[in-house]
Amino acid sequence: MGMQLVSTFTGLRFENPFLLASAPPTESESNILRAFDAGWGGVVTKTIGLHPVVNVAGPKTKFLRATPDSPHLSMQKRPGAALHSSWNWELISDKTLDWWVPRISRIKKAHPTRILVASIMAGSGSDEELLHWQELAKACQDEGADALELNLSCPHMDRKDMGSNIGKDPELLSIVTQVVKEVARVPVWAKLTPSTTDIAVEARGAFLAGADAISSSNTFPSLPLIDEDTLDFEIHVDGFVSTGGLGGPAILPLSLAKMSQLTQAFPTDNFSGIGGISSFEHALNYFLLGCGTVQVCTAAMLDHAVGPNVIRELSAGLGQFLEKHADRGWKGVADLVGLRRDRVVAQSKIRRPGEKDYRGGYEAEGYAEEKELRIKN
Ligand SMILES: Cc1cc2nc3c(=O)[nH]c(=O)nc-3n(C[C@H](O)[C@H](O)[C@H](O)COP(=O)(O)O)c2cc1C
Repeated sequence: MGMQLVSTFTGLRFENPFLLASAPPTESESNILRAFDAGWGGVVTKTIGLHPVVNVAGPKTKFLRATPDSPHLSMQKRPGAALHSSWNWELISDKTLDWWVPRISRIKKAHPTRILVASIMAGSGSDEELLHWQELAKACQDEGADALELNLSCPHMDRKDMGSNIGKDPELLSIVTQVVKEVARVPVWAKLTPSTTDIAVEARGAFLAGADAISSSNTFPSLPLIDEDTLDFEIHVDGFVSTGGLGGPAILPLSLAKMSQLTQAFPTDNFSGIGGISSFEHALNYFLLGCGTVQVCTAAMLDHAVGPNVIRELSAGLGQFLEKHADRGWKGVADLVGLRRDRVVAQSKIRRPGEKDYRGGYEAEGYAEEKELRIKN
């Protein structure tokens, strides 16, 4: 690993700024060990909770693919199709905290220089449940977890006080973050849901409560498509489906827009970018918008379960990029972070052709406001 890949994020030293996101690639000890052997700078464990978890009867994840030169989109496997997105309705880890605890410790001992982030989630409707957050946080950090990521974004929760339902409620989100910060000795990252109108509002709640970073995005709420022959959803159990989460290439531009909102609102804070990344060319977007690290799920799931080729390409891609631009004096990711953050502006700030002027839907300055006042009076 070249020194140019080394980066610091929330006070932690990363051998490279590329992490596996909390998901199937990080659901077991063997996967995480393989991921570190493959070169990932860090991993976020599959989310650990205290409530019982039972997944659906049948597949939890499928991949939607596009047929080239055709409008056809389908989860059916067929040759020559290109990946459009992943769709999942998988819950958090079905392993208990007791199962995870010795494994966190063993993984950390085997790879002391890699960053192990424990993703945790609990309810938030009572004092007892808020204590669950603290119990999870303490158990994971005591075993050597380098940071905690709060899952405030799981899109599949029925409970109003869990997952993305917390992430949509800035007050609840603030309380949960604060409760964890009370006991945390390691950095706390808050993973927010993109399923909200102004994500900067939720981010403010997390930062005010002391969050050290925001991770975004989790999957976007979505449905599988209906098969025109069977009239069944392409993924279902007994004909029924619930909303699940969309990941992969389709969410890259959507997630970048969320990240742009976040980094503009909090230009000096830390962000971990997630959503649709499978190559350095994608990751670069997140760095330039203001992220210090990025995380990968869908692309890794499709590459030997933990993404050995993906991480090789990401690391090589970053090295080559820095070499290609050697004349600019960039030494690592830190020099790229936020370089294009301020290029995203309001419509009316974009130049019009010739002498034409556009005022963002407002009329000439002063005039519209006066008229409105008169009408009210
Ligand atoms: C099958 C599956 C399971 C996931 N489970 C979790 C989870 O337990 N906790 C979590 O925070 N995010 C979970 N995610 C979300 C991913 O960590 C990631 O935010 C999302 O997939 C977007 O990244 P991608 O486009 O690289 O897939 C899951 C995603 C998938 C596809």
